[in-house]
Amino acid sequence: DEPSTDQPSTDEPSTDQPSFDASSFDIDAYLGSSVHLLPQTPRLRALHTVMRDRGARRDAFLHASDLVIRMLIKAGLDLLPYERHDVTTPVGATYEGLRPASPVCGVSVVRAGESMEGELRAVLPDVRIGKILMQRDKETKQPHLYYTSLPADITEGHVLLMEPMLATGGTAVATIRLLLDKGVAEENIVFVNLITVPEGIDAVCRRFPKVRIVTSSIEERLNENAYMIPGIGDFGDRYFGTD
Ligand code: URA
Repeated sequence: DEPSTDQPSTDEPSTDQPSFDASSFDIDAYLGSSVHLLPQTPRLRALHTVMRDRGARRDAFLHASDLVIRMLIKAGLDLLPYERHDVTTPVGATYEGLRPASPVCGVSVVRAGESMEGELRAVLPDVRIGKILMQRDKETKQPHLYYTSLPADITEGHVLLMEPMLATGGTAVATIRLLLDKGVAEENIVFVNLITVPEGIDAVCRRFPKVRIVTSSIEERLNENAYMIPGIGDFGDRYFGTD
């Protein structure tokens, strides 16, 4: 399949819905349905503590990030449908088993989303992974599509959309819209995300109520530069060592 840069249908947040109102945002309306937050165990908090420490050594940062990303990918796969698949065990008995009911592919949002590809491959070695490169145009403020390469049969199964940072939601909304334009069913998209904020959840879930978001943390807020607080800094730069 040739890479394509057909622009997705545009959709600035301000044009089709009121801007985010923190006072009326109710996370309980989304938790368990649209938003699946990993259990906030002490171990998960300890991994987050390593990742968020500005003085973390790079190997420690990568190790903690990969462990949390693997937890997120497994949680995303747990949301997909499974069907009955019995097998005969070595002692001749029947094990009443399960197998995925539909194919799964990954789509990473370049560049930070590429940090999730390794753990997805570790869990599903033969998974096919598409890529989308979309960046906000400095002048129009609209997300601009630079590159996309997606599996040809992406519409036939579920898509794990990998984007560790869900902040304002602008790029996420445009990316999901692009997948819908390609024929992916909204309910077949599982957004695998490391950290998010109420603004990002609101932007995605109000437009796409059937998309499910798996995340490991809901941050307090965005600062004036659209960084999440307390946050993790620029995740792509820290993960790929370009900071
Ligand atoms: N992207 C990042 O890498 N970090 C943020 O806090 C927000 C967007």
